[in-house]
Amino acid sequence: MNKESVIQHILAKAANSPRPSAEAFAPVNIALCKYWGKRDEELNLPVTSSLSISLGPKGTHTTISARSDHDELIINGEQSPRNDPVYIRARKFLDLFRSSTVPFFELDSVSSVPLAAGLASSASGFAAIVLALDRLMGWDLSMKELSILARLGSGSAARSVAHGFMEWQAGESPDGMDSFAVPVDTPWKDLRVGLLTLSTAAKKISSREGMRLTTSTSILYESWPKQVKEDLSRIKHAIREESFALLGATAEHNALAMHATMIATQPPVCYWLPQSLEQMHRVWALREEGLPVYFTMDAGPNLKLLYEKRNEAAVLNAFPTAESVDPFTK
Ligand code: PMV
Repeated sequence: MNKESVIQHILAKAANSPRPSAEAFAPVNIALCKYWGKRDEELNLPVTSSLSISLGPKGTHTTISARSDHDELIINGEQSPRNDPVYIRARKFLDLFRSSTVPFFELDSVSSVPLAAGLASSASGFAAIVLALDRLMGWDLSMKELSILARLGSGSAARSVAHGFMEWQAGESPDGMDSFAVPVDTPWKDLRVGLLTLSTAAKKISSREGMRLTTSTSILYESWPKQVKEDLSRIKHAIREESFALLGATAEHNALAMHATMIATQPPVCYWLPQSLEQMHRVWALREEGLPVYFTMDAGPNLKLLYEKRNEAAVLNAFPTAESVDPFTK
């Protein structure tokens, strides 16, 4: 099964009334229970399910217009050079959606997080393209279908087609029609996420390559699906009960377990910088002093802090450079 046939299948029943231009916003999402490892590389089908929280107003705003002659990609206000990896990836994705009525696209994309630094910019980027394409072409697809299309761009983009908590169900089917994200409709208005950005440099090992190396060489990967199963059920319970300590402790442990599988890879995949470890120790020390703050980390050196609104001032006092985000505002 390839991407083209999945798209054909989804668009076969869709409406079709193209407009000259359309825009959309998709939020960044931070996984509390991570996705690490594909069972199908072409379709970005995951080995396990995962669960994330979106970052409300932080994400990617994309305007897309139909063009007849050539593509034009403007990323963060600048015309993208043709050899830029972001340009190449976006164009390759757009290739899947060209038609005789709309052979080329103009894409203007503005992201409020740095690109490719483990801050989930690709997730919001691909989800915003899909949401904007849906409006441009007048497809009127369901959230499930939008999530499947976004997944074809980047796995975690499946969780960026809506706000709030999203659970990406791994599914079992080889065509991935059962692998999409669904909202966990429980708002948690006092939950906060602090972005502690230590480096905005693009990562040296892409998540695709990192996953490939981990699944094929890490002895610890064997236990990952079991870990996720347990963590996912704990996190869903924590969300239902608004139990912050359970949410924080499980999310932090899940992230560290994911990084352990990566570090046990040959050659090692280590996204941490010395400063990352330093900040982890600060989080642990603050917790020992009685401040309920936890962290999660993705395929990059930056920490995402988890805390509640009532402790926001104390957390920002301890981490003055962190940017506090209320995930449930838009
Ligand atoms: O969607 P990708 O290929 O960028 O992979 C995302 C992987 C992690 O961010 C590390 C985990 C996750 O679930 O978002």
